[in-house]
Amino acid sequence: MIGRRPLLAGMGTLLALPAARAAAAARDAATKLTVAAGVARLIGPTGAPTRVWAYNGRSPGPVLRVRQGERLQVLVDNKLSEGTTIHWHGVRLPNAMDGVPGLTQPVIQPGAAFLYDFVVPDAGTYWYHPHANSLEQIGRGLAGVLIVEEPSPPAVDRDLVWMISDWRLDEHAQLAPGFRNPMEAAMSGRVGNTVSINGVVAPVFTVVPGERIRLRLVNSALARICSLRFTGHAPSVVAVDGQPCEPHPLPGGRLLLGPAMRADLILEMTGAPGGDYPVVDAFYDGLSYTLARWRYGSGPPHAGRSRGPLRLPANPLPLPDLRTAIRHRLDIEGGMPGVGRFSRLGAEQPSHADPAARWALNGQSVDGDGHAGSRALLNLKRGESCVLTLRNRTAWWHPMHLHGHTFRLLRRNGVPAPYEQWADTVLLAPADEVQIAFVADNPGDWMFHCHVTDHQVSGLAAIMNVA
Ligand code: C2O
Ligand code: CU
Ligand code: CU
Repeated sequence: MIGRRPLLAGMGTLLALPAARAAAAARDAATKLTVAAGVARLIGPTGAPTRVWAYNGRSPGPVLRVRQGERLQVLVDNKLSEGTTIHWHGVRLPNAMDGVPGLTQPVIQPGAAFLYDFVVPDAGTYWYHPHANSLEQIGRGLAGVLIVEEPSPPAVDRDLVWMISDWRLDEHAQLAPGFRNPMEAAMSGRVGNTVSINGVVAPVFTVVPGERIRLRLVNSALARICSLRFTGHAPSVVAVDGQPCEPHPLPGGRLLLGPAMRADLILEMTGAPGGDYPVVDAFYDGLSYTLARWRYGSGPPHAGRSRGPLRLPANPLPLPDLRTAIRHRLDIEGGMPGVGRFSRLGAEQPSHADPAARWALNGQSVDGDGHAGSRALLNLKRGESCVLTLRNRTAWWHPMHLHGHTFRLLRRNGVPAPYEQWADTVLLAPADEVQIAFVADNPGDWMFHCHVTDHQVSGLAAIMNVA
């Protein structure tokens, strides 16, 4: 059957080998993701087209869906003129599938393809993005949502995905140049001037009075932090970074979502028929704007099929043992004012100060796109529990992200987390101190970095080795 495929003609002897046959079958069955230049219509179908980089011609890329416990197979075909990879953000997968160039795989060269193939252990809302030249590749539009479906999802009338993207556009609606601006790298990073949801600026979502919506939010911005208010509604948070939590209202009435962070909300659409309700982002002082709107139809209210508990089934996460855990402290340093001079950890050169290293963890900097020559800052034994204390000794916000593992948030500024909360990215305000815990059960070299991409690629990254 496989041999009949024209693609494989001429590979007769190879096909006799079971391994080659299995590989060919896997490539055949895989979802195809082509990475190439494309066009986005951010301002709507009549607005000026923006030249972007896209997955399968779209930015954001297609929403990939897989059932929990099943295999995800994605064949990535690189049609860019530079190397790329895909990182499956938040997924606890084998190290070789993590997509960090120089650390877990070589870049996928222009014209080449790579098969990502792994089992997804946890249900939830995840996303995918490159980990090579991240600032420019993500900034030009390479990102997509990955949904891992629960075997029995909660009863909702609709499951909506909102991928938030932030663009810095010029007056012709094209991406402004100036990636890797050293000033921005030492400050808040490249915050854009145009925010889209699923590739559209300020979209309107029509809803039926009385329906229950599961809303999956993903912040794929390079640097923008969102603080969302859902006027006229009282959403319940049911998952953070894909991981179920005890359903609770938005703390302080707002959803704070730093780069790379996700939240699953459940909204009861209790607004008035014919009503119009903005969702407002007000993180930056004096710069609030309407991210999206709910527009109620004026028809009869929804029959109200979807009731019942909101709590999502737990994922099979290993529980850290706090009594025996090894403890480490990581101090985040650098940025304006007084940008430090930090040394590259373990680079081949002698460790003199590197002017490109504007940030550091415990005084050491690593290139967050993955650096083959770097040594691990944290060395953990496989199976050991670890409590990490992160201290933000800078004047800036940092969403700190760990690869390959999901951690439990224990405390923030000495106060125990109000809900049992698991995450892969934790947002630290200036001067914050947070404590997280996890089991180092996934062998390999893993990145730990800030997800403000300018910070990530200018030193705010480290490698954690689990052996
Ligand atoms: Cu979205 Cu290294 O991560
Ligand atoms: Cu990640
Ligand atoms: Cu940062």
